[in-house]
Amino acid sequence: MAGKQNQSTSARSREQGKEQKLLEFIFSQPDLDSIRNNPQKVVDLIDKFSETYSFMTVGPEKGPIVTDLITKYRPQTMIELGCYVGYSAILYGDAVRRAGGKRYLSLELNPEFAEIARKLIELAGLGDFVTILVGRSDVLLNQLYESGQVKEIELLFIDHYKPAYTTDLKLCEQLGLIVPGVSVIAADNVIYPGNPPYLEYVRSSVEKKRQEAAKGPVRTYVTEGFLERTVNAYMGDESAPKFEILGNPNLVYESVLRQPEGYKDAIEVTRCVGVQEG
Ligand SMILES: C[S@@+](CC[C@H](N)C(=O)[O-])C[C@H]1O[C@@H](n2cnc3c(N)ncnc32)[C@H](O)[C@@H]1O
Repeated sequence: MAGKQNQSTSARSREQGKEQKLLEFIFSQPDLDSIRNNPQKVVDLIDKFSETYSFMTVGPEKGPIVTDLITKYRPQTMIELGCYVGYSAILYGDAVRRAGGKRYLSLELNPEFAEIARKLIELAGLGDFVTILVGRSDVLLNQLYESGQVKEIELLFIDHYKPAYTTDLKLCEQLGLIVPGVSVIAADNVIYPGNPPYLEYVRSSVEKKRQEAAKGPVRTYVTEGFLERTVNAYMGDESAPKFEILGNPNLVYESVLRQPEGYKDAIEVTRCVGVQEG
């Protein structure tokens, strides 16, 4: 038992500062000049370093699911919730730019992660295309709406605090940012570690969502169905949404699970296809 404890303590300390180590690993590459302005090479190096340390990036197995959506829907603006070290921002920012898009907005709570991501995004040559906004996703989404910078969600990649997936989507709904025939939402980690409340919401009928909405707005995260460490991750004392959350139950979604064959996790892809009145 004691041996086990020591092992996990040393594993934990080995993992501490790994994001900074990643930066050092990449910037000490002998062929740095050939990596500069090459998004795929930066992504490949993050994958390579992930063989030594575990990083919570979308990764090479699930990565193409969202790249395919970018190629198909060609968003002018793509937004992601949860930047971390910038892996998905580089992979998808590059894809949006190649598909003729205008900008990639990445929302990140942790200023240290944001700083590391900024350096890698700059190295990848995406500094003018990808903008990292530092803060809580709900506050930032509301600011983007209030300032008129974002009028509708085209493609949204959700990959941050798991209990906030549903509340942030509902916030976008009540702000009128989710538009039938336009908005597509890709949500990561819905199987591992899992997000039962989110899957239930995006797969629910309008009638069922109306019944829930009739109970009135909420200002709490639903935490049932999550692992304890998932609930306790990231947000610290900020354990409630900043806004009253009601959503728009009248929006009709078509939602499918995209799971790479034999892989433990999946991305839920949800399209807003209509609005049901009456
Ligand atoms: C799974 S990682 C994102 C990985 C990244 N999308 C990728 O594939 O490379 C989750 C990130 O979300 C951030 N985060 C957690 N809660 C957040 C919130 N409420 N608003 C914004 N960012 C948040 C965390 O700090 C962490 O960096």
